[in-house]
Amino acid sequence: MQHDTQIRLIEEMLTRLDAGVNIDEGGIRRNPTSVYTDPDLAEREWNTFFRQHPQVIGLSGDLPTPGSFFTVSDFGIPIIASRTHDGTFVAMVNACRHRGTLVVDDERGSARRFTCRFHNWTYDNSGALVGLPKHDHFGEIDMACHGLVRLPAVEIHGLLFVHPDPRGVINVDELLTRELADELKSWKLDELVVADHDNYDIACNWKLAVDTFGETYHFPSLHKNTINLGFHGNVSCYETFGRNHRFLLCRRAIDTMRNLPKEQWNIAVATLPAYYIFPNIQLLPTVDGCFFIRIYPHERNPRRHTSRITFFLRRGVTEMSEGSEARAAQEKTLAQMFAAIIRDEDYVMSASQQTSANSGALQEVIFGRNERPLHHYHNTYRAALGMEPLPLEVV
Ligand code: FES
Ligand SMILES: [Fe+2]
Repeated sequence: MQHDTQIRLIEEMLTRLDAGVNIDEGGIRRNPTSVYTDPDLAEREWNTFFRQHPQVIGLSGDLPTPGSFFTVSDFGIPIIASRTHDGTFVAMVNACRHRGTLVVDDERGSARRFTCRFHNWTYDNSGALVGLPKHDHFGEIDMACHGLVRLPAVEIHGLLFVHPDPRGVINVDELLTRELADELKSWKLDELVVADHDNYDIACNWKLAVDTFGETYHFPSLHKNTINLGFHGNVSCYETFGRNHRFLLCRRAIDTMRNLPKEQWNIAVATLPAYYIFPNIQLLPTVDGCFFIRIYPHERNPRRHTSRITFFLRRGVTEMSEGSEARAAQEKTLAQMFAAIIRDEDYVMSASQQTSANSGALQEVIFGRNERPLHHYHNTYRAALGMEPLPLEVV
């Protein structure tokens, strides 16, 4: 982030903190609880946002070296993401061209070749078919036409984009906006290395999981003995970038930073930025690394979702210099604690909200004036499905 933007945002946060006010939508919106339970809506979401929309499936550090690969199957199509010998990121359908078996079962690893264990058809790590036993049983098979099906893939500013449709188009400027793309670039996400993973399968709609990252009003209550010790609740900064947004959580370290000369102000010390990338990504960069969270619905079940959390560290933190090992271990512990709070505090609330939505007892829930990210997210989501926006009730 440009340093003048950092100063502007920190000043904005301090002004709110001193005045005891938060970001303000100027009114409330009522959200029908059926959006968390409706199977028809869930099917439209699945097709529109997941099967037919570019997905950020990881960061560059997920494929650290030529030969690295990982597999995903969270949005209806099994995919192998791989870094080829020349460092290029490629994505292909994880389905053998012989009779369709998954070629790679491992979640991640390193390989020059992928061999299907059914009959040993073998592909290189760019997906080209390089060998099959008893070749003559298949006549004049054109090897060049029987590689793994390639998917559109783009690696930019440390983000790995894949389109699940082989004919799909990934237009990064359109997806992120140029402004957000430039800002994400400044976080040097391409220099991060994977430190840890966690997966949570929770009995709540995927949008309830997204919602929990959209306000800090709950910090003094839900997180009073955890996050609230390090953060000021109910104060934040918020800006939108097309369908995406940047939401700043206010760290208590801002209290000492305000006394330093402005040249020394650092947005990652004063705040925890939470970037929402449409439709399902939360990206939270810190001084030493980044939390990267992917949130997926369950196919055909609007009442469950899976969150995949990856914690990355900056290379400087992991390098073998004096004290680096201890620092990396400390950062990893902090990350595990943070992830556990999401699971044990936030997602417990999400599952509780889902229980109430399932009962049909409430027709609607309310987004307060201070919960601006929820207003934007839900109306963006509705617009993308051709639904009427939730109207603002000025209060
Ligand atoms: S299905 Fe893969 S080699 Fe036969
Ligand atoms: Fe929370």
